[in-house]
Amino acid sequence: MSTTHGHGSQDGDAHGDTAGSDVVLREGEVAPDKFENPGFGPHRPRRADVDTAANKRAERQVVALFAVSILGTIGFVVAYFALPLDETVASMRASNLALGLGLAFALLGIGLAAVHWAKSLMNDHEKAEDRHAQRSTDETRAQAVAILEEGAQDSAIGRRGVLKGVLVSSLALFPLTIALPLIGEIGEDWNVSKFKRTMWAKGKRLAIDPTGRHIKAADVTIGSVVHVIPDKLDETDAPLDEKAKAVVLLVRLDPRDLKSEQGEGWSYDGIVAFSKICTHVGCPVALYEQQTHHLLCPCHQSTFDVADSAKVVFGPAKRPLPQLPITVDDEGYLVAQGDFAEPVGPSFWERLR
Ligand code: FES
Repeated sequence: MSTTHGHGSQDGDAHGDTAGSDVVLREGEVAPDKFENPGFGPHRPRRADVDTAANKRAERQVVALFAVSILGTIGFVVAYFALPLDETVASMRASNLALGLGLAFALLGIGLAAVHWAKSLMNDHEKAEDRHAQRSTDETRAQAVAILEEGAQDSAIGRRGVLKGVLVSSLALFPLTIALPLIGEIGEDWNVSKFKRTMWAKGKRLAIDPTGRHIKAADVTIGSVVHVIPDKLDETDAPLDEKAKAVVLLVRLDPRDLKSEQGEGWSYDGIVAFSKICTHVGCPVALYEQQTHHLLCPCHQSTFDVADSAKVVFGPAKRPLPQLPITVDDEGYLVAQGDFAEPVGPSFWERLR
């Protein structure tokens, strides 16, 4: 027990408030490590302790909760195979919803079953634990092991065959919810080279995200930031994949502020374009500080200097944001000079393979 009441009177004498405690602290005294056990109130047995039918009912409820977990995992697996992603937002929503619900029921079932089992079926001992020094004594450690062993005995897993079966089944099945998506990513779809190229190409117009409106260089004012996608993104087979790789941030600086760029002539009259995918672990870099020309990634605060080839000035990212070479076409619209010179996104070790 660890409750102490103590406060000083106005004349400087420190008297403890003894209500509910035998401890009185006088001036100069320190609180002892241990207080008397204030005792327990009268023990009230649970229904399941005194009523065999209630005990059986509680056991059935625990079984049902584990069964919910098993069904949740099965639902997850079925949804994983039955709802393939076909690059549309609707299919992603349906898949995420079904997988999320399956995962939720799989975890919730195990959690609720464990709590209900412990609260209604395991033995109802009341115990007091003294507060002690940070490191437990060897004796306490031995006690902890004994308590764990006692808990294992309390669960009566040996006697409750059905419970044992559903417990083992739900715990054994649950890892599928994590393993399946990971396994699904391995195989033919695990093609690192697909990250190397984006749909940017020579003459491809820059368009505003999400409207797709083309951008005239003359319309971009100094200090402004535009979120950019390649023109005709919707016409590709996998628009979301292509967008995820090709999305760009366009910034216009005063040309006198531009210290360097990643290639000769890659900017146009102070307008620079960089991949929006953070080179740390791929969050969208989106916060622009106009005065310092710094781009900030909100995930782990990597900061890139737009005026100096998007070099990293702070944070865990290890390389600059790749620059998209741009120019204007005959009508004054901004166009790409070609694709990025290096893979966009995180600096995963395979990227230069
Ligand atoms: Fe950008 Fe980590 S993803 S700093």
